[in-house]
Amino acid sequence: MRPLILAANWKMHLGPAGAAAFLREFLAGYHPASNREVWFFVPSVSVAAAAAALRDATAFRVGVQNVYWEPKGAFTGETSVPMAVEAGASAALVGHSERRHVFGETDAETGLKVRALLAADVIPVLCVGETLAERERDQTLSVVRRQLAVLDGLDRAALARLVIAYEPVWAIGTGKTATKEQAQTAHQFIRSLVSNLFSTGLASAMRILYGGSVKPENISELMAMDDIDGALVGGASLNPESFGKIVCH
Ligand code: PGA
Repeated sequence: MRPLILAANWKMHLGPAGAAAFLREFLAGYHPASNREVWFFVPSVSVAAAAAALRDATAFRVGVQNVYWEPKGAFTGETSVPMAVEAGASAALVGHSERRHVFGETDAETGLKVRALLAADVIPVLCVGETLAERERDQTLSVVRRQLAVLDGLDRAALARLVIAYEPVWAIGTGKTATKEQAQTAHQFIRSLVSNLFSTGLASAMRILYGGSVKPENISELMAMDDIDGALVGGASLNPESFGKIVCH
């Protein structure tokens, strides 16, 4: 059984004080069942506060929402992987749709970030997913295949740490969740692609999360699908009670 990952993506919300207050309230009220992990992708400036708040809690992990691939240098405004680790992060989102579509991040850049993270032993959560126009043109699977091609050439041992998040762009922040069948189809395709590209063992151990308008009302039916191993939650992760209900569904 792959342990479920219930992950919060706070986006550009909750600075250090807000993060610490959220986590205090969350830890007082909610305890994940065994075989479940709770990850928080927080703004870079809040990583240290979140890591401190979760220091004594097991089954929790703090991550950043983006990194730059060079370890240091003249890259104004960026956060390197070693800096994120020093602050307390042990995972990072890569290629979130807002990075791709608001900030113009390319597949090539996504690939460099995945490599920098794996080299530093930090877990990349590689986000993939099609836009509405791509889905309507029946290109969902080909878009996902292209976005996953950044993994070509990586060695299997390193890839064992990778997590994939399938987030259809049209479902993010819109209230439109993919149906459980639509999500399962994409997840099954991703798992079979990883199996063909690398190995069946790697594919069957890999966690593939679903993201896009996940809320307390739809978490159970999504998590019941064979190839869905967790959720990446935006809007509904900003309230301790609604995220708590998702974690404890
Ligand atoms: P949402 O965001 O849950 O608000 O749709 C998900 C995400 O962007 O990771």
